[in-house]
Amino acid sequence: MKINIFFTRRAESSKWITLFSSVFISGLLFSSLSYADPELKSEKKLDELIEQALEATPNLEQGHAIYTSCAVCHSPEAWGTPDGHFPQIAGQHKSVIIKQLVDIHKGNRDNPTMFPFTAPLFMLGPQALADLSAYVNQLPMVPNNSVGYGGQLAEGKKLYDDNCEQCHEANGEGKADEFYPRIQGQHYRYLERQLHWIKSGKRRNADEKMVKQIQKFDYRQLELLADYVSRLRPDKSLLADHLDWKNPDFRAGFFIAPRN
Ligand code: HEC
Ligand code: HEC
Repeated sequence: MKINIFFTRRAESSKWITLFSSVFISGLLFSSLSYADPELKSEKKLDELIEQALEATPNLEQGHAIYTSCAVCHSPEAWGTPDGHFPQIAGQHKSVIIKQLVDIHKGNRDNPTMFPFTAPLFMLGPQALADLSAYVNQLPMVPNNSVGYGGQLAEGKKLYDDNCEQCHEANGEGKADEFYPRIQGQHYRYLERQLHWIKSGKRRNADEKMVKQIQKFDYRQLELLADYVSRLRPDKSLLADHLDWKNPDFRAGFFIAPRN
């Protein structure tokens, strides 16, 4: 509970985030590595990196060690925040996590807070990406993600079934092989923001076919879609078995009172 209170407060104050992350980033950047290799920005190198990361055998312990730098924002459980400022990433397909990290690193997603965290990661190479993505993927998902207003779910369902199901699957589970994200169980506000950003072109990495579809929807239709998708339930086996599950890999009070 302590952690949640802390997160809520922090999410309200972006100044806090900037301050906190800049301190953290400098530590991260200068602890092990000098600076991002400009060559890594080339499309071919990044594609190779994704491929190698997907083939590598992951080490979850290493994955956890790297994930501690992400937990600052995404929370130790990787459940994000209910206001959708930070998305849930627990349970996401490994391929999607790796692809999103690459895209954020390339500057294809407007994510200035997270961008600096990707530089050291990419210097560590494909094994680190494999370890990290496998770690996040196996974390249980939040059982009660935030949802929309639930007003016009039938209309939302029709829009979803006609347009989105072909890639994200009937229940929003996505497709790992195709890099289609799992969108079920995601926080409503995050989904809403992404749909608007995909429509306006602010999220530049989005699938072209999807962008064309989403552009033809008006504001209200995007709200209905976000509402419907936020209510798509992940399979029970993917969810934490109780609401106040805490990630045992982190000691209690991880954020508030680090002891090292
Ligand atoms: C300083 C805060 C911060 C840190 C640290 C951070 N993230 Fe993020 N991350 C965000 C924000 C904010 C977003 C959502 C951006 C948006 O709305 O497009 C995000 C988005 C993501 C996404 C895309 C989610 C999706 O569903 O497409 C992934 C994957 C991700 N982060 C993984 C990580 C990993 C792995 C790390 C550690 C290496 C990390 N993040 C560190 C703030 C952070
Ligand atoms: C042709 C396949 C395709 C279709 C159709 C499609 N999507 Fe997507 N969607 C994708 C891919 C691929 C991504 C990941 C894009 C990226 O960031 O690289 C994505 C990303 C998303 C995201 C962001 C997920 C995240 O975690 O950040 C949302 C939300 C989303 N889609 C919703 C929808 C909705 C709603 C529809 C229907 C109106 C739809 N999509 C139709 C392929 C598709």
